[in-house]
Amino acid sequence: MGICLSYQIKTNTEIHAGMFFNHNSSESSKYVSKDGSDTGYSNSKGSSTSVPTTSRSEGEILQSANLKSFTYNELRNSTRNFRPDSVLGEGGFGSVYKGWVDEHSLAASKPGMGIVVAVKRLNQDGLQGHKEWLAEINYLGQLRHPNLVKLIGYCLEDDHRLLVYEFMPKGSMENHLFRRGSRFETFSWGLRMKVALGAARGLAFLHGAETKVIYRDFKTSNILLDSKFNAKLSDFGLARDGPDDDKSHVSTRVMGTYGYAAPEYMSTGHLNAKSDVYSFGVVLLEIISGKKAIDKNRPTGEHSLVEWAKPYLTNKRRIFRVIDTRLEGQYSLDHAQRAANLAVQCLCMEPRTRPNMDEVVTALEQLQVKEIARDHHKGVQPKRHPRPRMQ
Ligand SMILES: Nc1ncnc2c1ncn2[C@@H]1O[C@H](COP(=O)(O)OP(=O)(O)O)[C@@H](O)[C@H]1O
Ligand SMILES: [Mg+2]
Repeated sequence: MGICLSYQIKTNTEIHAGMFFNHNSSESSKYVSKDGSDTGYSNSKGSSTSVPTTSRSEGEILQSANLKSFTYNELRNSTRNFRPDSVLGEGGFGSVYKGWVDEHSLAASKPGMGIVVAVKRLNQDGLQGHKEWLAEINYLGQLRHPNLVKLIGYCLEDDHRLLVYEFMPKGSMENHLFRRGSRFETFSWGLRMKVALGAARGLAFLHGAETKVIYRDFKTSNILLDSKFNAKLSDFGLARDGPDDDKSHVSTRVMGTYGYAAPEYMSTGHLNAKSDVYSFGVVLLEIISGKKAIDKNRPTGEHSLVEWAKPYLTNKRRIFRVIDTRLEGQYSLDHAQRAANLAVQCLCMEPRTRPNMDEVVTALEQLQVKEIARDHHKGVQPKRHPRPRMQ
């Protein structure tokens, strides 16, 4: 573990070399570097070859995806003409609106009729938007898993690019963690761990032998929640086919989100499944701390959550400095330590030292089992560790 903490994170410097997309949204930090193309892979000796994000052509992707094709007019009508008050969220790709479709035929229906869906509309011109739109169809059109959001259909008409998903009534994890307001009750420790496990299972499925997909944009705004708070990954715009076993892709066009991307990917463009594991570590840290990965409103020296939290995470007595104060009394010291330790392992600077997502899932399952056992231990109150006073 020592090795994990002995390196310095240098993400910020590398990111500044990149060109930022500027969006008026919570996802304003998606970035892409200026130079080169997002293709190529290398083996450990560093040779690289050009490969596309996926080997399938646009025609093949659209034909094979088992999705409904909508006209622009249908989706306009089903969202009340993309009315601002039906916006569910915004991201780097565009706005997401509430719409309605017929439950059986999935044909677009009048607002208020049938079932609710989420309609994402691309609002940025150019090739990058189209590529992201196609990547979502490529992956979500083929992959089905309880921890991935379901894509229902798409629209491709003139310049219009839209995607239609199942509606996730509890919104994004980001909103629950960071948006203070009456609509969002404080998320309990147990619920947070449930969401972490669901999201980890989604990533583990993507990395699995049959799928071998790198997600590349793992963050709390891309974790959506159904009515029972089951976590589902959405937003596959940056996903790409994984490299062969001992290799990494090399991207000269580094893409992802500021604060979440793995440092080696930022500085060298080397991408493999362990880059997603690093991002998982950042998200786990956000989940237990209730603090954003990057927040310029925090005091100097605390802007980067990872940098700030690292010294506390491995220290039993100081771990409480990191854990969300809103969770006071809900967790045991043992659980807090295990969760923090898992985050530390995922955040190792050396990618090979990070656990794989199957190991992360196992660790979180064990936490969950302990949680249930503790809650069912009738008559015995769990031993709570009093939170030490802060100076
Ligand atoms: N299926 C959905 N159900 C409910 N809200 C959604 C859904 N899809 C997206 N959203 C909301 O819209 C936001 C942006 O969606 P996302 O797919 O991440 O777009 P982008 O590709 O632009 O980042 C999410 O963080 C969430 O708040
Ligand atoms: Mg997103």
